[in-house]
Amino acid sequence: MSVHISEHPLIKHKLTILRDKDTEHFKFRQLVREITMLLAHDATMDMALGDRAVETPMGQSDGYHLKEKIGLVPILRAGLGMVDGILEMIPAAQVWHIGLYRDEETLRPVTYYNKLPEFPTVQVCLVLDPMLATGGSAIATIDILKEWGAKRIKYMGLLAAPEGVDALQKAHPDVDIYLATVDKHLNDIGFIVPGLGDAGDRQFGTG
Ligand code: PRP
Repeated sequence: MSVHISEHPLIKHKLTILRDKDTEHFKFRQLVREITMLLAHDATMDMALGDRAVETPMGQSDGYHLKEKIGLVPILRAGLGMVDGILEMIPAAQVWHIGLYRDEETLRPVTYYNKLPEFPTVQVCLVLDPMLATGGSAIATIDILKEWGAKRIKYMGLLAAPEGVDALQKAHPDVDIYLATVDKHLNDIGFIVPGLGDAGDRQFGTG
């Protein structure tokens, strides 16, 4: 199990604009999408390939295709903004939504949406959520996916608190974590500091 934190200059540049409190909603959404696409490069590095020969205009060529079925699992709401960028690159990916919100008092996740079918339909799940704070939402989502029967799960996020990374590693040591950055700490109301505020509200203009 490993934690991958991007050192990509484009991610650092875009993340800074994402944090800026004056960045508007439409720009915020665009940045979430772009950073996710850059992060997906690392997160898909070990996807399995099968052979696929094709006819080019000049003759036959050996080639490849993605062998495994990939499922994107955005955690509602904020994870929604990470879906489209990956779908542009992997249009055949399935999207399975999981709805969770954090109880403001206890900070514990509360599940409100789960329409997974009875048996797993994908070989690899990419769990998407921009914010890994206490880690409770990610852990609960991965619990649900494992109970469903998912065998290979990866977590992709933009910002994390060290507390959330530790908790997720302890709860699910077999899940690789891909992040744009790890911030300083969680504050006393469970927000990542310095962070970027509430990623759901900032994407959807509901703050
Ligand atoms: C935020 C965020 C994560 C969760 C992270 O969602 O998008 O899902 O909190 O916190 P945790 O690691 O402590 O569980 P929120 O509950 O605000 O819901 P929203 O995405 O609908 O705004």
